[in-house]
Amino acid sequence: MSVQRVRTFRVLLVVLAFVNTSRALVDEVVDVLRLGKEIGEEVISSWDVFGKPFNATGGVDIPVFRRREREILARLALVSRSIEKLELGINKIGEVTYFLAKTRENKPTRLELRMNEMSDLLNRVASSNRLMREYVGLQEELERSTLLDFAEGCVSHDHGALPGLLERIHALVVPPHKNLLGRGILQLLNDDLEEEDSDVCVLQMSPHQLIYDMYNTIALTEIKGYAMMQFSWMLLRIYGRGNFTQEASLTRQRYAERTGQTATAARAALSRANRKLYRCDPQEYTKDTYAEVTRLLQGYVENEVDMNSDGTCKENCAFYTLAERHDCYKEQFCAKQAACNGRIIDCQYIDSDMWVCPASPKSQRRYEWIQYENGRTLGKADSSCRQGTTKVDSWWRWTLTHCSYCFCLCEDSEIESERFFSLREALADIDNNKVVTGMRLVKLGKVFHLQVYEGALAERGFVESSTEVAVKAFDPMHVGVTQGVDYHTLTYERRAIDLDELDAPAGHVLTGARFRMIGAHLHFEIRATPFNYTTGRLAPEKSQWISNDNTEGSHMPRTRVKLYKPDIPTRKQTTLHINSQHDQYIEFTHSDFDADAAQSTVPFIDIQPVVPTKALNTKGASLLSGAGIYHRGGRGSGGFLGVKILTYDYSKHVKAEPPPSEFVDEAETTEFVPIIN
Ligand SMILES: *[C@@H]1O[C@H](CO)[C@@H](O)[C@H](O)[C@H]1NC(C)=O
Ligand SMILES: *[C@@H]1O[C@H](CO)[C@@H](O)[C@H](O)[C@H]1NC(C)=O
Ligand SMILES: *[C@@H]1O[C@H](CO)[C@@H](O)[C@H](O)[C@H]1NC(C)=O
Repeated sequence: MSVQRVRTFRVLLVVLAFVNTSRALVDEVVDVLRLGKEIGEEVISSWDVFGKPFNATGGVDIPVFRRREREILARLALVSRSIEKLELGINKIGEVTYFLAKTRENKPTRLELRMNEMSDLLNRVASSNRLMREYVGLQEELERSTLLDFAEGCVSHDHGALPGLLERIHALVVPPHKNLLGRGILQLLNDDLEEEDSDVCVLQMSPHQLIYDMYNTIALTEIKGYAMMQFSWMLLRIYGRGNFTQEASLTRQRYAERTGQTATAARAALSRANRKLYRCDPQEYTKDTYAEVTRLLQGYVENEVDMNSDGTCKENCAFYTLAERHDCYKEQFCAKQAACNGRIIDCQYIDSDMWVCPASPKSQRRYEWIQYENGRTLGKADSSCRQGTTKVDSWWRWTLTHCSYCFCLCEDSEIESERFFSLREALADIDNNKVVTGMRLVKLGKVFHLQVYEGALAERGFVESSTEVAVKAFDPMHVGVTQGVDYHTLTYERRAIDLDELDAPAGHVLTGARFRMIGAHLHFEIRATPFNYTTGRLAPEKSQWISNDNTEGSHMPRTRVKLYKPDIPTRKQTTLHINSQHDQYIEFTHSDFDADAAQSTVPFIDIQPVVPTKALNTKGASLLSGAGIYHRGGRGSGGFLGVKILTYDYSKHVKAEPPPSEFVDEAETTEFVPIIN
């Protein structure tokens, strides 16, 4: 990622700190949507009380006046307390300022400029809001004129006053001029995120999630501004500065217009935004980031004489396409290496004599490298050979047959190799209303499993904290554990894995995943469960498994992802990129002869958890609707297989409805409808 992009994202993260802290309080208090609704109702009911004809102008009835003032302030205190609870991350803004000062050297991008402006405006609204809170808290000690000043400031026409700030925020989201520069900040953000997939890597949020959070941040600010302006009109009215019925009504109208347009812009950006999330290459490959299938088809040196039951050397290496080791003739090289106890496949003759550098007995490799006398080297011979090299020479028999050392592939016995995939389901506890919040591949013992993370689904798409669902490890060799039921063993003939990206139907969320065999392919499937967005209730009995059952027999069969001279992926210096698409497959195979002496099985398996960062510092989790298996690689690399997930599509839940038209009718109990569903 370029320096500039990194900068953009640091700003972005700071801006998002607003809403992210707001999420932390969802379970305890309310979310932005509920806050909007509650404050809207509070405003309406306050106007009902204070909007009635009130004859303070005569200045006679002081007790009544004081009582009304207290009441207004008490209501304002209530409103501001709930806003405050959603606003703990405000001090982060200092970082933006610092940050802006530092980034003046380079010419910033348009998005970055707008993000900075947005964060500045949001900060200013937040600071008037903070001031209001202080005043409300201190009302007993404050002069009336101070409150009056503040209220007047909140509804002032000055460029820097609250109404102006809200209009400027709105202009960033919905630019007033439809010219070249007229793209809104949400759209710019989305365009920018489309450009590079490394963004997803750094943020561990899908572009869709980012835009949704950004939208919530803006919506929260609108709500704050609306409340402050309405209560200011009320205060001004009871202080006898005027009637303000008309002004309050205009404020409400403009609020409705802005929130409606913001919702439209958000919906448009969200419906286009990418919902994929996956992990990328870590800084450093470790045992925590990847695991390997071992000894599926491993390079293996064997002499012809040991591959037939008669101990003859009548054939050549190419004759042995499928063989096994029968004997160890005269304790030659065969006695110095671990035998292949499975099938020996696809032998070939490379050269008669060679030096072999054996790998450490603890390693899953057999050889570090092999150097033939003709100069060809398999593997990387540059390293010194710790175990000491062995000279391996073919020989002639008196019959003038040549007993050649062949270079073959060994599909080792199931005891020696680790090439099992669990076929057991990985499920969230739907009976306790839990959904999948993340996924990973994990190797336990010799077996690869899908593992899910789960969290309880709450109202309006919120998911409480995310926890790992423990995978029950098993040993494929134990009695009662069955091949084809509990697990699949990769073999020469059955080593393909399907690469699909699956999404749940509308109104469903992700609640599980599994591998299943379709023909000779290991095949990925997801479980989807319908739910009620408003209540957050799952309908477990209506769960379904979803898969892309395209087989080799169909008229548009899956295409294969081909590997070109695949070396061990952890050796690759360049970054790897996703190079598979939906409806493809890949075959596990040996690493390249020349690069690695075919000692490893590729692709490797990425075992990093794919769990979206809900936020910077909150405990909530993300709602998901799909998942997939992909291959990440590049020319000359075996690459990695990994899981990706699709975050839930919130676009259809973003809508704005106008607030109630008038407050005057006392009997009117119209609910204030929040700006988001
Ligand atoms: C104004 O206050 C006086 C004294 O309390 C009261 O008699 C009168 O009805 C009030 N006027 C209105 C319009 O409420
Ligand atoms: C003041 O507000 C009331 C409604 O509460 C309205 O009936 C009245 O016409 C307003 N007066 C003026 C002068 O705008
Ligand atoms: C979701 O639940 C609410 C409240 O129980 C209900 O009114 C609504 O009809 C439900 N929606 C759907 C799509 O079932």
